[in-house]
Amino acid sequence: MFVVAVSEGCELRLLEECHVPALHRVIERNYESLEPWFAWAHPAPAEEDTRAFVGRALRQFAQGEGFHCGIWIDGNLAGSIGLHRIDWQHRHVSLGYWLDAAVRGRGLMTACCRAVLNHVFGELALERVEIRCATGNTKSCAIPERLGFRKEGVLRRVERVGDRYNDLVVWSLLREEWKG
Ligand SMILES: CC(C)(COP(=O)(O)OP(=O)(O)OC[C@H]1O[C@@H](n2cnc3c(N)ncnc32)[C@H](O)[C@@H]1OP(=O)(O)O)[C@@H](O)C(=O)NCCC(=O)NCCS
Repeated sequence: MFVVAVSEGCELRLLEECHVPALHRVIERNYESLEPWFAWAHPAPAEEDTRAFVGRALRQFAQGEGFHCGIWIDGNLAGSIGLHRIDWQHRHVSLGYWLDAAVRGRGLMTACCRAVLNHVFGELALERVEIRCATGNTKSCAIPERLGFRKEGVLRRVERVGDRYNDLVVWSLLREEWKG
């Protein structure tokens, strides 16, 4: 099993079939704060959609193209962090995340991203990691900024989220810039 210790009481574990009901409950109770930023939240996912997502994520992992982990805080599933498909030819990847509102504001997601970056630049030896955040998503943009990513620009109306389009800020970090 793929497990990464982040800090005391916080660990990342590969999402598996058995986690689907708990994962779905966290999504449901955080729906209002997730739907402005994620295309997958439109229409609101049913438990079967969450199951299908976990199935795709496991196949992605089995094919060596990246992973999606649950975030466990004090033994409770409290969010997710994952890699979109790794581009092995160009050795880059992009990172996505969300957290249960009950545990926000404690630096946990920044710490989870740090752990994933150690893995991505260490074991996977990739050259570049990207994080894309909507221009209005200040809490999300604060994470790459805190971790030393460079803001490269804004992709206008590049993501359709329900009946709106979001502009996305592209943040990037290169292997030699990562301080660990
Ligand atoms: C984006 C999201 C994960 C950010 O959560 P967060 O709790 O703000 O992020 P962190 O866990 O890194 O915590 C940072 C906060 O903890 C504080 N903090 C406390 N101790 C800290 C520490 N040791 N290190 C860093 N920050 C710390 C920071 O000051 C910051 O608080 P502030 O926002 O009041 O300034 C969360 O808002 C979320 O899930 N939103 C909905 C989904 C979403 O937008 N996903 C991203 C799409 S691109």
